[in-house]
Amino acid sequence: MAEITPLNLKGCKVYKGYLDKSAQHSLLGDVRSIVGKAPLFSPMTPWGKPMSVKMTSAGKYGWYSDKTGYRYSTQHPNGVEWPEIPLTILKIWNELCPDSPRPECCLVNFYQDGAKMGLHQDKDEKDFSHPVLSISLGDDALFRMGGVQKNDSTESVWLSSGDILVMGGESRLAYHGIDRVKFGSSQLLKAAGRINLTLRVVD
Ligand code: SIN
Ligand code: MN
Repeated sequence: MAEITPLNLKGCKVYKGYLDKSAQHSLLGDVRSIVGKAPLFSPMTPWGKPMSVKMTSAGKYGWYSDKTGYRYSTQHPNGVEWPEIPLTILKIWNELCPDSPRPECCLVNFYQDGAKMGLHQDKDEKDFSHPVLSISLGDDALFRMGGVQKNDSTESVWLSSGDILVMGGESRLAYHGIDRVKFGSSQLLKAAGRINLTLRVVD
């Protein structure tokens, strides 16, 4: 599985088909166990609207947002600590980011019912020399990648179940987002939807 040569999307590495069907199903089991302990919720944007993507996290830190802004928190909004990041997920990080310290957050994004994610930078972490790794499961999604300035030109790629993306180096602080999901395009989940797992070093 680790033999795939990545595509280069504006400096971001895209490993198409990195996870086979059985690896995808096993990850899905891990996601179900995370969600069983730390239920999905809809974070509020700082401007008071719930995000269309539902989220939860595993690891020392979970990503959180409310009217006071975006941040990492050591607790789920229900007050409990986040579950540990499953070993199968850490193994993927070690394969593709072997020189980086262990990730401290595995954000779980769940796209349903027309959910999408606007262009943004991942910049709530302390050290941008560490990459961000993102895993796609379920329905296909149109991923847009830009540059470090919001109005830089962008390029898009369809991400399918089992694809992995690594944003490091020049692409670490690049704007990116999900324009749309082709709901029902994958049979991995029982119902239409897409899961994205994002691994990051926070401290
Ligand atoms: C994100 O940038 O937080 C999510 C990207 C994705 O869903 O693929
Ligand atoms: Mn992001």
